[in-house]
Amino acid sequence: MNMSRTHGSVLLTAVIIVVLILFSTSNSKTPVIPINLQLQNKLNFNPHLHAIARSSTTMTSFPVLRNRNPTFNVRVCISDPFFVKSIRYINIYRSINQLILQTGSRLPELELVRARAAIQRAATVRNKSQLLPNADIYHNPAEFYQSYIEMEKRFKVYVYEEGEWPLVHDGPCKDIYTIEGRFIEEMEQGRRGRYFRTKDAQKAHVYFMPFSVTWMVKYLYKPDSYDVSPLQQFVSDYVRIISTKHPFWNTTHAADHFMLSCHDWGPHASKGNPSLYNSSIRVLCNANSSEGFNPQKDVSLPEINLRDGNIPPKLASPPPPSSPRPHLAFFAGGVHGPIRPILLQHWKGRDPDLQVYDYLPKALDYYSFMLASKYCLCPSGYEVASPRIVEAIYSECVPVIISQHYVLPFSDVLRWEAFSIRVKVSEVVQLKQILTSVPEEKYLRLKENLRAVRRHFVLNQPAERFDVFHMILHSVWLRRLNLKLE
Ligand SMILES: *[C@@H]1O[C@H](CO)[C@@H](O)[C@H](O)[C@H]1NC(C)=O
Ligand SMILES: *[C@@H]1O[C@H](CO)[C@@H](O)[C@H](O)[C@H]1NC(C)=O
Ligand SMILES: *[C@@H]1O[C@H](CO)[C@@H](O)[C@H](O)[C@H]1NC(C)=O
Ligand SMILES: *[C@@H]1O[C@H](CO)[C@@H](O)[C@H](O)[C@H]1NC(C)=O
Repeated sequence: MNMSRTHGSVLLTAVIIVVLILFSTSNSKTPVIPINLQLQNKLNFNPHLHAIARSSTTMTSFPVLRNRNPTFNVRVCISDPFFVKSIRYINIYRSINQLILQTGSRLPELELVRARAAIQRAATVRNKSQLLPNADIYHNPAEFYQSYIEMEKRFKVYVYEEGEWPLVHDGPCKDIYTIEGRFIEEMEQGRRGRYFRTKDAQKAHVYFMPFSVTWMVKYLYKPDSYDVSPLQQFVSDYVRIISTKHPFWNTTHAADHFMLSCHDWGPHASKGNPSLYNSSIRVLCNANSSEGFNPQKDVSLPEINLRDGNIPPKLASPPPPSSPRPHLAFFAGGVHGPIRPILLQHWKGRDPDLQVYDYLPKALDYYSFMLASKYCLCPSGYEVASPRIVEAIYSECVPVIISQHYVLPFSDVLRWEAFSIRVKVSEVVQLKQILTSVPEEKYLRLKENLRAVRRHFVLNQPAERFDVFHMILHSVWLRRLNLKLE
């Protein structure tokens, strides 16, 4: 350590050493680094997290991010090197890196410091767009690429072992809630899951509660009772067990814990514990921002309907780019929720260019229609998410998203406008006009981008790099990066 050129740096070095001693001594006595969580003082790490929050008209109750701690001190600098301009602080950061290397210790918080710095550098300095096949689909391809690489390098997830099968450690692996079971399975037993999973809870950055809300509904819910309290009771009991047996929940007030559910009632179940609802990362298909979904900390999960557990053969590989698409637009589906009745009222049986059905006649094939249409209409039903969006991506049928308050999956890194069209509910009447006025050149670009974005929505078994498993994990990683524990 040779940085004592000025009194200032001597003092700062001393402070670092004290901080590090604090870390290491507390480490040997208690199982976790004592963390004083400042939820109100989150790092404004990913500007897109911010942008999503701002773009949503219903969001008023976010923790204010701009109020960085007025008593800006060395500890803030350590966990927050982005905002640090002075070379002195950069030296501090370098010395910490060196100390980590020397002691070989793996302090999860400090690792995140390094990750944030690397991502920030990549976002502003390096040009990595060549490394990704189609840069157009990302807000900032270099930033995403670096963030993904940092995640693979460092991110560690602890999976709680408490809880009995099947409500915990299992989930549906078929049909509309497939993703719930498949994520849990990959995380617990998959090759890529094991790569990110750590059995050493002290080394983890996040803690996963592997329960399945779909199975709670199947086993605990009384049909037709509309009573979700057994689900909430289960979640409440589960949290009581893990927060009594382990120190992690209490130390961070659950902010570094996550749950995942594709079932419509995932948000209801999460109300079983106030900290889970208000602080934890909730990974949900039902990402309705006017029902408490908070895109700053919660993650929007794509709904993927694999009827028999596999991608339908017709959608299994990308269609030939030249295949003819005689229909302008297609929709077939149940009439539920507030938006679909409007769509059907205006377009069902009205215009041969717009193939709009409630239930598709038996003789017609759903996926063939998607493959034969330029645009696939994806209106919300009972809940905001719809498996059509992912099916449209698979079939390279440009999704036309008609929904309100829906926070789209991975929208913190993906530019949805590069591969989909958004139509307001009030514009449904002009749907044909809107779609026919998209220039051919733009349509072709949207379609090309769909091909590029496909890999981020594919559920592989075993999981593969950049696929949907990794994208979900990356969303959790970004929210953890955005959280400063001090
Ligand atoms: C980054 O690389 C891409 C592709 O090579 C290029 O089109 C773009 O202009 C570059 N951006 C910068 C800022 O250099
Ligand atoms: C966490 O807090 C709860 C409630 O305050 C308490 O019952 C529990 O024992 C605490 N857990 C640990 C590990 O101290
Ligand atoms: C979340 O926090 C708010 C404010 O502290 C509280 O009123 C609300 O009940 C909490 N939500 C849940 C589901 O516990
Ligand atoms: C989203 O939440 C709002 C407010 O509760 C509700 O009115 C709306 O119907 C929800 N959207 C969907 C598609 O469920």
